[in-house]
Amino acid sequence: MSSIDYSQKIPNNVNLSDDRTLQRALEQWQPSFLSWWDDMGPAGSQRHDVYLRTATSVDPAGWATFGHVKMPDYRWGIFLNPGQAERKIHFGDHKGEAAWNDIPGEYRANLRRIIVTQGDTEPASVEQQRHLGATAPSMYDLRNLFQINVEEGRHLWAMVYLLHKHFGRDGREEGQALLQRRSGQEDNPRILQAFNEETPDWLSFFMFTYFTDRDGKFQLCALAESAFDPLARTTKFMLTEEAHHMFVGESGVSRVIARTCAAMNDLKTDDPGRLRAAGVIDLPTLQRYLNFHFSVTVDLFGADESSNAATFYSTGLKGRYEEDKRQDDHQLRGQTYKVLAVQGGQLVEREVPMLNALNEVLRDDFIKDSVSGIGRWNKVIEKAGLPHRLSVPHKAFHRNIGSLAGARISPDGRVLSQAEWDANVGQWLPSAEDRAYVTSLMGRVVEPGQFANWIAPPLMGINRQALNFDYVRFA
Ligand SMILES: [Fe+2]
Ligand SMILES: [Fe+2]
Repeated sequence: MSSIDYSQKIPNNVNLSDDRTLQRALEQWQPSFLSWWDDMGPAGSQRHDVYLRTATSVDPAGWATFGHVKMPDYRWGIFLNPGQAERKIHFGDHKGEAAWNDIPGEYRANLRRIIVTQGDTEPASVEQQRHLGATAPSMYDLRNLFQINVEEGRHLWAMVYLLHKHFGRDGREEGQALLQRRSGQEDNPRILQAFNEETPDWLSFFMFTYFTDRDGKFQLCALAESAFDPLARTTKFMLTEEAHHMFVGESGVSRVIARTCAAMNDLKTDDPGRLRAAGVIDLPTLQRYLNFHFSVTVDLFGADESSNAATFYSTGLKGRYEEDKRQDDHQLRGQTYKVLAVQGGQLVEREVPMLNALNEVLRDDFIKDSVSGIGRWNKVIEKAGLPHRLSVPHKAFHRNIGSLAGARISPDGRVLSQAEWDANVGQWLPSAEDRAYVTSLMGRVVEPGQFANWIAPPLMGINRQALNFDYVRFA
């Protein structure tokens, strides 16, 4: 069950050949996917041989194999974690009932919306990142970018499989629409705003994969609890791939910090001007990028109070992060949770029904998880013997969704006037000048074992290969 059949046109571990209609529908979608990949996948890189890992089994031991492949030949397919026999729904109004293999009619519309929204982020990030190959800081990093890109493509496959299998004609139409929307395109944009922003440089890419792919992790964890068993099983496998994306982000930022700290020690300065003259990214600029990506990503969790969030939970469609580990009744009626609002020039906490605040609950879990990595970044600075520290901004800072949308809040959580905001925002968010400076560093360094000046080499290569291994063989 868990091993993947690669003899078929569409690799899968779901016995696709037993369902001819579904197989035909997906085989019809496959060329559209490939032509989307051709148009919107990594620019100018389709003929390179890239050292990619491909899933061979969903077992934790040995699920991947590594080898050089051209990206359009990557074996995208359909992989579900094995089902648990007699799995029970463990939260919401249906708690204790058997998990569903088919969708109850009354929940179809909501589930379709959840799956389409998740699915839309996958090709969106490939589109956002498609020009980064031109400015890779090393062959190692270039390979990691491509690995992430093909896996986001596979995540799209995962969602399209669910749409085709469980939503009939509507699902097939949604599968096409997922290939038609375009990140940042005015007349047919991606669904969520953060996925219409550009990822213009590699610092943004590392921040994106640290923060925004982590939003993906939390959304997938919440869906992995779903009463709809095929969704739970497919998102569990997606999570194993997602872990690598966050590793690329965390280690990428960490290497930028290490390089900057080395320059600070060599030059005995923390002056941004002198550090920029030395071609590294000063820590205040890093902090501003961090503030931007953190705040844009916390918005992705949605409004702090949401009746949809309550419905999705009560009906069993979407659980909480680590639902099993929580010591409550898993139904949450009558319970409350604190959300923030601005009142009388101050941030105040309001108690609201917890069911309505589940977006906020997930956002707070995400924040806890994000902060731990920033602690690891600070260890790099500490080890270099420097007193500076990075921090996450207050969760009310720079928000565009929910009751805090548009409120003027400093990174340390003070409510500001518009004038105070305008006078200080340049210290808190990347300015046009910061972005131009970071862009100016983005040359292409792709000789094996070479790294751009602004980033330290990683501690080790991919799959225990040397740092000067030929991760990408250029066509
Ligand atoms: Fe993904
Ligand atoms: Fe990802």
